[in-house]
Amino acid sequence: MPRRPPGGGETLTGVIPASTAPAASTRLPAGLPSAAVVDLDAVAANVAELRAVAAGAAVMAVVKADGYGHGMLPVARAALRGGATWLGVAQLGEALALRAAGITAPVLAWLTVPGDRFAAAVAAGVDVGLGAAWTVTEVATAARATGVTARVHVKVDTGLGRGGCRAVDLPDLLADLLRIEAEGLVRVVGIFSHLASSDTPGDPSVAAQVAAFTAAVEVAERAGARLELRHLANSAATLAVPGARFDLVRPGIAVYGLSPMPDLASSADLRLRPAMALLGRVALVKDVPPGQGVSYGLTHVTTTDTTLALIPLGYGDGVPRHAGAAGPVLLGGHRVPVAGSVCMDQVVLDLGGRDGAVRAGDVAVLFGSGRDGEPTAQDWADAAGTISYEIVTRIGTRVPRHHVGSVPSELPGPLPGAVPGPLPGAREAAR
Ligand SMILES: Cc1ncc(COP(=O)(O)O)c(C=O)c1O
Repeated sequence: MPRRPPGGGETLTGVIPASTAPAASTRLPAGLPSAAVVDLDAVAANVAELRAVAAGAAVMAVVKADGYGHGMLPVARAALRGGATWLGVAQLGEALALRAAGITAPVLAWLTVPGDRFAAAVAAGVDVGLGAAWTVTEVATAARATGVTARVHVKVDTGLGRGGCRAVDLPDLLADLLRIEAEGLVRVVGIFSHLASSDTPGDPSVAAQVAAFTAAVEVAERAGARLELRHLANSAATLAVPGARFDLVRPGIAVYGLSPMPDLASSADLRLRPAMALLGRVALVKDVPPGQGVSYGLTHVTTTDTTLALIPLGYGDGVPRHAGAAGPVLLGGHRVPVAGSVCMDQVVLDLGGRDGAVRAGDVAVLFGSGRDGEPTAQDWADAAGTISYEIVTRIGTRVPRHHVGSVPSELPGPLPGAVPGPLPGAREAAR
């Protein structure tokens, strides 16, 4: 698929035709200088789309790192409403936070350290991903201490060179696990791995990793593992590598409506809706003559009589300083790059001419849906030389997350019918 134009707009700088979308000013709650508005209906719809694409494989929505910055708990509930039957996180603390919020859906956490909260996780019915010999000892100890069988998924390194055991170490790891499975301490539920270059689905490493994973599954089954779940695919592989889907897919970025392979397909191409919009309220407007230097270092100098607008979002809020002078912002029908340096608390916009219509209190869109001239998180990623994952995940804690859509963030627990029955581990934990 061809590379899409930035944010759907024709030019980085220009006047955008009249909008059909809700005005930004109606989306930023009154009284707030800024907010990340998160559309939970978009999250649910994205998961439903991924579920349809996954063609029979179960969907584990990855909600680590505070739901990629979107707010883990509301996003988790929205994902379950959209048809995810699993939630995936990196750390045990994240899994425990899901449980503490009353979420009973199956949860897998895959990044642990010695001395981690294994006992609490096992007692809470959290599945643990493991790929190191020391974890076998830790989960066995946790199972003995709690009287709960630990459910584990073996992680194999099929080529990423990051987490997971080496293929050569898999037989010994399995032998250790199956020995304590026979004692009732663990249940080896699954085997999984992670892809290195799925954003380039035709990369030879992808097929090589699928083959290596298939071989690892065979090794595990021959060793006697009664596997329920084989899983390998992240967002890009879910969407573009059918052979990587196995029993369950683990999409993250696509749940939030962002393309995992922006060089090949936009969110819209993939029928995904960006869930987060980063909005800031204009703090100050002033008219200046040509020759006015703007922001630290005066790297931007106005070239005409123009209007400057001050937006209270800066690198302290996660707006990348790297993107200064290129990060696009939509305000009052102007789509303009940030003028000069991104500061800690603010950016300045040069509206490219006098505009008496833009006023303090108006709302600027740093990124959002990509429709009606709104820039996207991908546009900011392009401007900063990074990936959209980093743009949304690094939005700071000073920026309130304002959740909209039909899954209110304050719901105490999962929605009726959205969550499958309790886990075996959870049942045992209740005894
Ligand atoms: C093990 C694992 N699975 C799935 C994902 C989701 O990846 P993506 O956001 O690219 O879909 C991640 C995220 O990094 C991960 O670490």
